[in-house]
Amino acid sequence: MIKISVDNKEIEAKEGANLLKTCLLNDIYIPNLCYLDTLEHPPASCRLCFVEIEGRHGPVPSCQIEVFENMVVKTDTPAVRRLQRTALELLLSVHHVDCGHCPANKKCELQRIARFLKVGLKPKRLEGFLKDQETMDDHPFLNHHPNRCVLCGKCIYVCREAHGTPLMDFADRGFKTLIRFYGGKGSNPFPCNQCRRCIEICPVGAISAKGQTETAKS
Ligand code: SF4
Ligand code: SF4
Ligand code: FES
Repeated sequence: MIKISVDNKEIEAKEGANLLKTCLLNDIYIPNLCYLDTLEHPPASCRLCFVEIEGRHGPVPSCQIEVFENMVVKTDTPAVRRLQRTALELLLSVHHVDCGHCPANKKCELQRIARFLKVGLKPKRLEGFLKDQETMDDHPFLNHHPNRCVLCGKCIYVCREAHGTPLMDFADRGFKTLIRFYGGKGSNPFPCNQCRRCIEICPVGAISAKGQTETAKS
């Protein structure tokens, strides 16, 4: 075991452990949306988990960093908060905030991060853009809500883990990127009715079971 310092708190960790995971395990919260501890190569797509490390120039995403002996980490510097707030505001600028009708309400990571960073869910700094399609309902058991999706990719990963090959993936590019379901043809019917891992892993309310009440995530 090695010792590192995070926000002046000394903690023990295994050499080479993931910094974000180490902080979370030690009750030091760092906003994050796309990290899963079973992922060998975290995608670092949400750009929320920044920290500053003594000896390194500028903030770095903690989900990409391995801990080392005597590492000194700060999670709450002005530069870190500036980057995190900007990343959150960008996410919110393409998000249909309607928590009262969302199954993730009160369990939503976006709500948690907005509260933590003291950013309103409807920031005025950026103009909002929404995708045309509010709900994609072509799957027999699931609905996808592109304007709630933060494109973290966790649903694709857990689907691949459960079924060998993912039954969903990113489709389109840039602003149009969304999650699309595949499979369900011929001898490969959708196993989603018994699975639902994607609903459970989704940090927001972007996938819901058909017929699920729109105010409570099961
Ligand atoms: S995902 Fe749902 S609960 Fe979370 S901020 Fe968006 S509308 Fe609100
Ligand atoms: S549907 Fe949910 S889990 Fe999947 S990419 Fe969107 S936000 Fe992430
Ligand atoms: S959790 Fe590190 S970039 Fe998303």
